[in-house]
Amino acid sequence: MDKKSLNVRIARCATEATDIVGLEFIPTDGDTLPPFTAGAHIDIAIRPDLVRQYSLCNAPSETHRYHIAVLRDPNSRGGSVAVHEELREGQTVQISYPRNHFELGDHKHTLLFAGGIGVTPIMCMAEELHRRGSSFTMHYGARSSDRAAFVDRLHASPFSENVEFHFDNGPDEQKLNLTAILRGASRDTHLYVCGPSGFIEAVKSEAAAAGWSTDRVHFEYFGAPAVDTSNDGSFEVRLARSGKAIRVEADQSIVHALACNGVKVETSCEQGVCGTCLTRVLEGEIEHRDHYLLDEEKLANNQMMICCSRSKTPLLVLDM
Ligand code: FES
Repeated sequence: MDKKSLNVRIARCATEATDIVGLEFIPTDGDTLPPFTAGAHIDIAIRPDLVRQYSLCNAPSETHRYHIAVLRDPNSRGGSVAVHEELREGQTVQISYPRNHFELGDHKHTLLFAGGIGVTPIMCMAEELHRRGSSFTMHYGARSSDRAAFVDRLHASPFSENVEFHFDNGPDEQKLNLTAILRGASRDTHLYVCGPSGFIEAVKSEAAAAGWSTDRVHFEYFGAPAVDTSNDGSFEVRLARSGKAIRVEADQSIVHALACNGVKVETSCEQGVCGTCLTRVLEGEIEHRDHYLLDEEKLANNQMMICCSRSKTPLLVLDM
């Protein structure tokens, strides 16, 4: 793990819902952990060669523990299954310091949307908004209540009246009506959404249709949807500061090609969702494949995520 890291002990592993395990990490040394803000995540070295990011779901005011919840997803890249099968109470694991690419702002009113396991950063935000005394409503959608983590915790929370549950297998009147919610919101409301990509896309497109400006819509993807790479070709990147020219083969990412040539770049998700590898581009046309930059930022064609995005032109000049 490249980033500033620490060792923590797994104090508790508990089933939070069908296929969802919650893990609590406590310090191995001393009583407190580095502070974090709502929306933050940590990298966890599940094994030395398997590092994955998970959002913190406890209140940022807590300093004695980090709490995460992980959905077992056999179709993922293997991290979630390993968490379920290999991590146990009492074990010591290496994690990164918390980092936040999904910062919670200060708004007149906030709408929180959680889809399934996307509840983790959203619940942390609800805790923080409650602590601040801010006005907010949390909408929590899931296939069924037994597949929704932390339902009891939310019912028992001091902000339970701010939480609305929407279960796919429940009665029609409790179903999530995005159109009504988003069209009925005031112009100074901001929304935060996390969940499966289809859920995030639905909230984003409904917000756009309801006239929301993109600066009021904040989102975090867990993982990027699959991309068709069958037509990928090779191209060259030139590093403006060193003058180095590096070929990126059709089956390589820019980050990988750079690493093969001794240029190390800090990465985290390697799927275009976290923003860690953001790089300025000085020349060439970018083929954006990330889920981090806003549409207008992509159109500006001057920055890219070099872990996943590519080039439409034979040459890209990077500001590095
Ligand atoms: Fe996360 Fe590139 S490493 S966006």
